[in-house]
Amino acid sequence: MAPRCNPQFLNLKLSLRLLAVLNMMWHSSVTEVAAQIQLTGEVGGNVTFRCPVAKPTPIKLFYLQKGQVFVNGYYASKNIEDKAWENTKLDRNKTTVHMNSLNISHSGDYQCHIISDSHTQPATVIHLTVTASYSKPKATMDCRDGLSCTVTCASHGYPGDKMMWNVTGSQKDESWKVVNRSEMNDPYTMMVNSSSTANFNCSNGELKFSCFVGDVTSNMFSVCTPLDPEELKDNVIVAAMCAVVVISFIMVILLLCWKCRKGQKGR
Ligand SMILES: *[C@@H]1O[C@H](CO)[C@@H](O)[C@H](O)[C@H]1NC(C)=O
Ligand SMILES: *[C@@H]1O[C@H](CO)[C@@H](O)[C@H](O)[C@H]1NC(C)=O
Ligand SMILES: *[C@@H]1O[C@H](CO)[C@@H](O)[C@H](O)[C@H]1NC(C)=O
Ligand SMILES: *[C@@H]1O[C@H](CO)[C@@H](O)[C@H](O)[C@H]1NC(C)=O
Ligand SMILES: *[C@@H]1O[C@H](CO)[C@@H](O)[C@H](O)[C@H]1NC(C)=O
Repeated sequence: MAPRCNPQFLNLKLSLRLLAVLNMMWHSSVTEVAAQIQLTGEVGGNVTFRCPVAKPTPIKLFYLQKGQVFVNGYYASKNIEDKAWENTKLDRNKTTVHMNSLNISHSGDYQCHIISDSHTQPATVIHLTVTASYSKPKATMDCRDGLSCTVTCASHGYPGDKMMWNVTGSQKDESWKVVNRSEMNDPYTMMVNSSSTANFNCSNGELKFSCFVGDVTSNMFSVCTPLDPEELKDNVIVAAMCAVVVISFIMVILLLCWKCRKGQKGR
């Protein structure tokens, strides 16, 4: 009989292949899991790095590091606490590190290194993302000539996101236009100042607007508002007084002219 018709051989071949497949699956699942650990935190908040242990034998070395920089960990034989980041705390029983006072610069890839008596396990990567929710946008308005207004909305947070407008009023599309927009990183905190400047044309009357970044919205504001009643009343009085003065002035001149002419005629 040819070897490949031998049922026993076939069985062996099958189980070998199965083993290989299982082995492959185990490897790929390990690397997948390693790639999948994601942590997110807020600026000023805290997170917990939980490094998985493959074999629960006594641990000789546990290191959490960021790039080449040691974050926290221990040797079974030696105390290295003094080298740890000040904003971290180690849970010695659990290969767990707590990190508080988070800021943007803590974002990135961290590696867990674990060596136990019998085993050196491949490093696990934990990716930390630190975000900051945007502050409520503030608006500053400049309506110098009464015909148009320049409005700037600004807010800060992380990561970068666009400042948007929500404008209501008559003929709103022709009445306003975004003229500048910027997202600037603070070089120290890395927080983004997101701002947008728009011009409003006041010839179509009052407009209402709010601005927003993501789901954080400003108050509702009015722009190109008509003069308020008090101001209007004052203006009417001033105008009336002006009119009285002008009319009196004209009448005096007419009177003078009339007298003048009369005098000339009389001579
Ligand atoms: C960590 O943050 C949680 C809330 O997210 C808070 O309850 C807890 O007190 C914080 N722990 C530390 C050590 O700052
Ligand atoms: C837009 O705004 C940014 C930030 O305020 C400023 O640096 C830039 O000069 C402005 N650009 C224009 C065209 O006004
Ligand atoms: C972020 O935290 C680190 C300490 O972990 C500190 O050295 C750094 O100054 C902080 N950065 C900011 C912008 O607060
Ligand atoms: C953010 O940008 C706006 C417009 O460029 C500016 O007026 C404001 O002062 C900035 N705020 C901060 C905190 O840098
Ligand atoms: C403002 O709008 C009016 C009417 O829609 C238009 O005639 C005028 O040119 C606009 N002014 C500016 C500065 O765009």
